[in-house]
Amino acid sequence: MIVAIPKEINPGENRVAVVPSTVKELVKKGLTVHVETGAGSGSFISDNAFQDAGAKIINDTKELYNSADMILKVYHPIMNEKLGVHEADLLKEGCGLTSLLQTTRELDLVKKLTEKKITGFSMHLIPRTTLAQKMDALSSQANIAGYKAVLMGAVHIGVYMPLLMTAAGTIPPAKVLILGAGVAGLQAIATAKRLGAQVEAFDVRPVVKEQVESLGAKFVEVESDTSDGVGEGGYAKETSDDYKKKQSALIKEHIAKSDMVITTALIPGRPAPILIPDDMVEGMKPGSVIIDLAAENGGNCSMTKKDEVTNVNEVIIDGTVNIAGSMPVHASQMYAKNISAFVTYLCPEGEMNLNLEDEIISGAMFSHNGEVTNEMTKQALNS
Ligand code: NAI
Repeated sequence: MIVAIPKEINPGENRVAVVPSTVKELVKKGLTVHVETGAGSGSFISDNAFQDAGAKIINDTKELYNSADMILKVYHPIMNEKLGVHEADLLKEGCGLTSLLQTTRELDLVKKLTEKKITGFSMHLIPRTTLAQKMDALSSQANIAGYKAVLMGAVHIGVYMPLLMTAAGTIPPAKVLILGAGVAGLQAIATAKRLGAQVEAFDVRPVVKEQVESLGAKFVEVESDTSDGVGEGGYAKETSDDYKKKQSALIKEHIAKSDMVITTALIPGRPAPILIPDDMVEGMKPGSVIIDLAAENGGNCSMTKKDEVTNVNEVIIDGTVNIAGSMPVHASQMYAKNISAFVTYLCPEGEMNLNLEDEIISGAMFSHNGEVTNEMTKQALNS
């Protein structure tokens, strides 16, 4: 079986789906690995390094796609403006595809891939189980985004992060508020604490209180006697109107005192919840910053502009997307490890073993044999 790794074409995408060490892992399993010329350049990996690890380098994009039984990508297929052809159209009929694809959002692409009888897997759909932990690209990439968000925020604000006692006076620590304490939020808390800030965090899932506190941050709690906000599989779900009102009043009070707000709140298959409406931004301190990690999914702040940094009455709102891609060396290393773990699980003897009884394989798959196989994606297509 031939797996092929194209050069990513999404603007600003520096990540790549394999690194030399994972090429070795794939080759060891009996897979033949084709890598497009320059695929690793954004992550400082040369063609020679891939070749030395056992990959064949292919210069021509169409030839690479044509050679493959399975394409391994970071970003989902998009239009290749240079070639004047959509990446999905470059895929051979019946071929496999593994990439980061939000199947409930990219419905036209899902239709296109299904029509081409692509066996499609999304790294977004890998179940959050213990066995699949090493394949969990959402966690590995969110971890990086949470870390980098704090550094980006620290560059924007005009104040120190730590408490300092100097001859020129005492500097109080910066106040950082994290909204959403999942993987990205917890890493943001840890990073802001390391830089010496005073950190508070809020999440709709009360179970994270202990995790937040163990990192030395204060948990901002909405008084509620229901399990509002706690959905299937430990994920968040949309909250009731009453909860939203209480949450909003509480966030408003804390946000007004913050120098930096990092928002990470996501609900699987739904647009990101708005946690910071216009009036809350108006109540923020001049010189403070919001880093909106949910910008890709609409943003947690009503004023976030996707992939733009804006200044609203001296509050900076940063809607940069693909933050993990701005740290490409480790982002590629971790993503490649996730992909390699998945592909070697799917192809234990060097050929695809499509065991649909297996919850990781059937969970990650969204299309096969001309059918959409993922329930949430089917529902989105029918609504
Ligand atoms: P996510 O990226 O889907 O969401 C980020 C955070 O936003 C979550 O903590 C969520 O509760 C929170 N959120 C959603 N709506 C909100 C609102 N209105 N206000 C405030 N916060 C809101 O979540 P992520 O980081 O992908 O993790 C989701 C769950 O999966 C967690 O329970 C995590 O512990 C679990 N997980 C389990 C793993 C495993 O067992 N292998 C691996 C990684 C995560």
